[in-house]
Amino acid sequence: MHIAVIGTGYVGLVSGAGMADFGMKVICVDKDKEKIKQLQKGRIPFYEPGLEDLVRKNMEAGRLSFTTDLKAAVKQALVVFICVGTPPNPDGSADLSQIKEVALSLAEALDDYKVIVTKSTVPVGTNRWLKRLIDEHKKNKVAVDVISNPEFLREGSAVEDFMHPDRVVIGGESAYAIAIVKDIYRPLYLAETPFIITNLETAELIKYASNAFLATKVAFINEIANLCEKLGADVTVVARAMGFDPRIGRKFLNPGPGFGGSCFPKDVKALIHQGREVGEPIRILEAVIESNERQKLRAVEKAEALLGKLSGKKVAVLGLSFKPNTSDVRESPALTVVPELVRRGASVRVYDPVAQEEFRRWLPDLKVDYAPSPLEAARGAHALIILTEWNEFRFLDLAEIKKLMAEPNLIDLRNIYEPEMVKALGFRYTGIGRS
Ligand code: UDX
Repeated sequence: MHIAVIGTGYVGLVSGAGMADFGMKVICVDKDKEKIKQLQKGRIPFYEPGLEDLVRKNMEAGRLSFTTDLKAAVKQALVVFICVGTPPNPDGSADLSQIKEVALSLAEALDDYKVIVTKSTVPVGTNRWLKRLIDEHKKNKVAVDVISNPEFLREGSAVEDFMHPDRVVIGGESAYAIAIVKDIYRPLYLAETPFIITNLETAELIKYASNAFLATKVAFINEIANLCEKLGADVTVVARAMGFDPRIGRKFLNPGPGFGGSCFPKDVKALIHQGREVGEPIRILEAVIESNERQKLRAVEKAEALLGKLSGKKVAVLGLSFKPNTSDVRESPALTVVPELVRRGASVRVYDPVAQEEFRRWLPDLKVDYAPSPLEAARGAHALIILTEWNEFRFLDLAEIKKLMAEPNLIDLRNIYEPEMVKALGFRYTGIGRS
C-alpha cells in the first residue's frame, strides 16, 4: 500500500517512518525545502531517540522517501495522512490554517479515490468540515473518505510509543476506509493492541479528553505537593500510595515545575474554547491552566525563599526542554522561570544537554549565559535549580559542585535527589512537596 504523509514534524515523521517499518511504501511531504533536503540525507531536524535509525533503515530498504511535491506524492498514494500543526490562536482555539491549506492542495491534486486520514489534533467537527471543504473544491469528480486517527505518541519516546501504542483510535463513516486504515496497523492488531472504531466526533474528542485528563492529573498532584510543603507531608509517598489504587494509577502523579510541551497546554486550551463555544464551559480545565501558570513560578519563589532578594545573586538552571530526551522547549517552564529570575535581578547561567539552541531561538534577547556543562553552570552560583529530569542530572558530582558554588543551595523541582543524601553533603535542599 502506498501512503503519503503531509507534514514532517514529530507526528508526521515518526508515523511515516513507523508505517514504512510496518512494510508500507511511504512518501513524506513538507513544503519546507531545506527540511526535505536534510531528510533526504537521513538527517532529522530535531532530537528524538531512535528516530534517525528508523528513518535511515527504511530509506535504505526503499520504503521511505521525502519530497516537497505534494501533488506527485498524493497521485501515487491510496491513503493520505495529514500531520500538520494546529497551534493555538490567541483566544486558545486551534489554528486550522495549515489543515485548510493542505485540504485545498489535496482538492487540487486528487485524481482518484483516496482515504484522507487526520492525525493532527483537531477540534471536534474538523474532519466533517475537512470533507466538505475537499468535496467543494476538488477539481476531479472523485470520491474521498475522511478518517480521524489521532496519535498519542509522547516526545522523547515517540518511536517506542508509535510501535507499541496503548490503543489505536479510528473514527469514520465509511466501513471501506476504516478497513483500509485498520490494515495499515495490522502488525499492531495482530499484537492484540486494542482498536477503537468509532465515529469522527468521538475519535476527535478521545484525543482531547485524554490529554486534558493527563494534564489535570499533573496539575492536581502539583497542588497536592504545594499543600504537602505547608503541612509537613511528603508528596512522593502520597503519590505512590495513591497510585496503588488501580482507579487512580501511579503514572502522571509526579509533581514538578508545571507541564509544558506542544500538546498539553494547547489541547487543554482548545478544549476549554470548544466547551465555551457550545455553552458547556469545562471549569475544571480553566482551573488546570491557571494552576499550571502559577506552578511555573514556584521555582522562582523557592529561589527567593532561600536567597532573599535575587538581585546580585547568581543562579544556575539545569534543564530547558519541557521534559527529558527532547530538544523541544515549547511551553517549557524554563521559558517562564529563566526570564523571571533575570527580571528579579539574578544573573543566570543555564545548561541543557540538547535544548540550548532551541531555547536561544525562542528568547534571543534574554541576557543569560549558556554553560557547556552542569559544573560550569554551577560555578559561583548561589543556587542550582533543576527544572528537567534529564538522566545526566541524576548523577551529578554534588561534592564537586558544592566546592564550585558560592552557596550550596539545591532546588530540585523534579524530586530526583534524596533530600537526606544531599543535606549530608552540606547542601540546603528544597524539593517539591517534601522537605
Ligand atoms: C503528551 C501526551 O502524553 C501524548 O499522549 C500526546 O500525544 C502528546 O502530549 P508529551 O507532550 O510528549 O506527550 O509529554 P508528556 O510525557 O505527556 O509530558 C507532558 C508534560 O507533563 C511535561 O512537561 C512533563 O514534564 C509533565 N509531567 C508529566 C509532569 O510534570 N508530571 C508527570 O507525572 C508527568
